[in-house]
Amino acid sequence: MTRPARAAHRVVSAITKPLTTPLGVEDFVALVNPLSSRRQLRGIVTGIVAETTDSATITFRPGRGWQAHHAGQWARIGVEIDGVRHWRSYSLSTGAGEEPAITVTAIGKVSDHLVHRTRVGDILFLAPPQGDFVLPTGPRPLLMITAGSGITPVMSMVRTLVRQRTDADVVLIHSSRDRTDALFFDELLDLADRHDGLTVVSWFTSDRGRIDLGQARDLDVVCPDWRTRTTYLCGPAEMLDAATEHWRGEDLDHQLVVERFAPALLPGAGGVGGVVQFEKSDKEANAPGDTTLLEVGESAGVVMPSGCRMGICRTCLTPLRAGQVRDLRTGEVHGEEGDLIQTCVNAAAGPVQLDI
Ligand SMILES: Cc1cc2nc3c(=O)[nH]c(=O)nc-3n(C[C@H](O)[C@H](O)[C@H](O)COP(=O)(O)OP(=O)(O)OC[C@H]3O[C@@H](n4cnc5c(N)ncnc54)[C@H](O)[C@@H]3O)c2cc1C
Ligand code: FES
Repeated sequence: MTRPARAAHRVVSAITKPLTTPLGVEDFVALVNPLSSRRQLRGIVTGIVAETTDSATITFRPGRGWQAHHAGQWARIGVEIDGVRHWRSYSLSTGAGEEPAITVTAIGKVSDHLVHRTRVGDILFLAPPQGDFVLPTGPRPLLMITAGSGITPVMSMVRTLVRQRTDADVVLIHSSRDRTDALFFDELLDLADRHDGLTVVSWFTSDRGRIDLGQARDLDVVCPDWRTRTTYLCGPAEMLDAATEHWRGEDLDHQLVVERFAPALLPGAGGVGGVVQFEKSDKEANAPGDTTLLEVGESAGVVMPSGCRMGICRTCLTPLRAGQVRDLRTGEVHGEEGDLIQTCVNAAAGPVQLDI
């Protein structure tokens, strides 16, 4: 804010404060211009493009507090559904320096709302971009392997690379069910046509079955020099797990950069659950031992704080009043009264009381 604007703000504050309490002047300014809010970063939806029958790209103009994204980063996006604000994470699919956009595939509550019910002019709640799934600083041969909505951060990288680096050498293998299910299909064909350094391989599982990253056979066919390339990978958990294992086995794990959309849970990590009491909300629920406390709370109608939902951002930290919880990533049972619990990756291990 400039100095005259600050002075004007102070005068307006002094005059209106007694009239507007308990709401602050900020709240009224935010009603007139939602993007000006200093309490909560917001964005206004400026465009929506249907990509496939169940996915759409939503472009938005962010308000104050937003920072330009690096190609490959993600942001927490909040939407209000039936009066309750829900947060999820979405990779920014536009290139660095372009107006931010997310490309969402409808698979559940929030994604369905974003894809099918969002309109131009709607307000999104935002947190600034973050994440270290970003391009290397120097030029080097790259292999990008994606499946389904996992292409979104890589699309941002490709869009950035073709614009910024004439020496780019990128092979992108994108797996989807078929042509109609493939995100950005036409744009990628066009980019590959215009840029010698970009090769796009569309892998349709309806024709070829799933790409097997657990061994070299498929890779040797579609990208014979894959061992010499730094590989960026984003897709379903099984694909990421198989590739991680394979690259490790080949002693190439230092060349593999993985982005996950869901936490890497230890298979069979769940155990005996219990009754969970959400004290301040005056609710309780029977919690299976393999279901996160976040999901249990949400199903019981408790307004649970959340962000990445995969154990990174710590937005979901909730004080434990009593009982113990199980970390579904490691199987470890832990917890003492007063501990802050990441509800998105922990499940009940017996009866639990949470201070929420
Ligand atoms: C860093 C990051 C980036 C992401 N980027 C994108 C993106 O660019 N585009 C996009 O569409 N989504 C992206 N996601 C996933 C997104 O945050 C939501 O998880 C997804 O939209 C489902 O939320 P929902 O409320 O619609 O479904 P929910 O109602 O929360 O879940 C529905 C069911 O789907 C399961 N589920 C959640 N995520 C996935 C998944 N990725 N694959 C399969 N099953 C899943 C849940 O466990 C649940 O059983 C990203 C997630 C992270 C952590
Ligand atoms: S929601 Fe991000 S750590 Fe739990």
